[in-house]
Amino acid sequence: MLKVKPVSPERLPDLLRLMPKAELHMHIEGSLEPELMFALGLRNGVSMAYPDVESLRSAYVFDNLQDFLDIYHTGTLVLRTEQDFYDMAHAYLARAAADNVVHAEIFFDTQTHTGHGLSTEVVINGLHRACVDARAEFGMSASLILCFLRHLSEKEAFECLEQVLPLRDKLLGVGLASSELGHPPEKFARVFARARALGLRLVAHAGEEAPPAYIWSALDALKVARIDHGVQATRDPALMARLAKDRIPLTVCPLSNLKLRVFPTLAEHNLGRLLEAGIVATVNSDDPSYFGGYINQNFTQTFAALNLGAQHAYQLAHNSFEASFIDDELKRQYIDRLNGVFETFQ
Ligand code: HPA
Ligand code: ZN
Repeated sequence: MLKVKPVSPERLPDLLRLMPKAELHMHIEGSLEPELMFALGLRNGVSMAYPDVESLRSAYVFDNLQDFLDIYHTGTLVLRTEQDFYDMAHAYLARAAADNVVHAEIFFDTQTHTGHGLSTEVVINGLHRACVDARAEFGMSASLILCFLRHLSEKEAFECLEQVLPLRDKLLGVGLASSELGHPPEKFARVFARARALGLRLVAHAGEEAPPAYIWSALDALKVARIDHGVQATRDPALMARLAKDRIPLTVCPLSNLKLRVFPTLAEHNLGRLLEAGIVATVNSDDPSYFGGYINQNFTQTFAALNLGAQHAYQLAHNSFEASFIDDELKRQYIDRLNGVFETFQ
């Protein structure tokens, strides 16, 4: 690990912006900005629940995860065609590239959209084409992780997995999202075992709102390689030791945690404590259009609130590559670029 020179608080935002990074926890439907949502609504003849962009944006105030999921679901109603999914993903990738995201592992789901009468192909082909184009247009790598919706049944998750099988080559892995409380990971143990047998990478949201037991069962029942959120882990010392020892990454989303009231203020966020405990924590935006910021705003606001410095910045960017599913050679290239930025930053 590089020993990093100190950087003044005034220069830190530039370093956070310039450093190459991977984003590993971002739901593409949560990147749909109100402007594009209205444009797609118009294009597809879908009437909107709010009269204009400003009133929609001002409705983005949430008490908890479920509150958010309800409004998030309404936003997905404008997505009707393969081009809509392409346009949404292209907009995110352009925005991420501007934040020096060089690699993205993007969450999406098909169950929301098949529930609206769309085909699995429309969703995956549109998103995948945007990921392919991002390589030439933005010089970044991007791949797709299908999230099962945990408020739906095991049977529905199995049906979803069967439907995506013809498009298996366009998927990196599977995850688990939506309403956490009352839907523990073990509900999906058999679906994840099947996905694992298919060679898909495994991740799951756990310990966002729900207790550490959900993180244990994501690890032991689902056998995931990464935990999404996982911030409740600090309540369980034995779990903290396990995460550190096995180098299980956590994809932390500070502004999401703030907006969904997981922490009352950013100054009370436990990102610093996770790093001190030697956990492979990363910073991500979750649903940037809804939570008030893309990845760099997550970095800058959290660093200011927690008084974190250049060494933490390096650690988090390094962690993002370590935690990613890219091959060792590409990892090495990205980490070389990261080292180059830290060595030359004045
Ligand atoms: N948690 C669970 N499900 C989600 C989230 C989240 O933060 N964002 C989009 N779907
Ligand atoms: Zn999430």
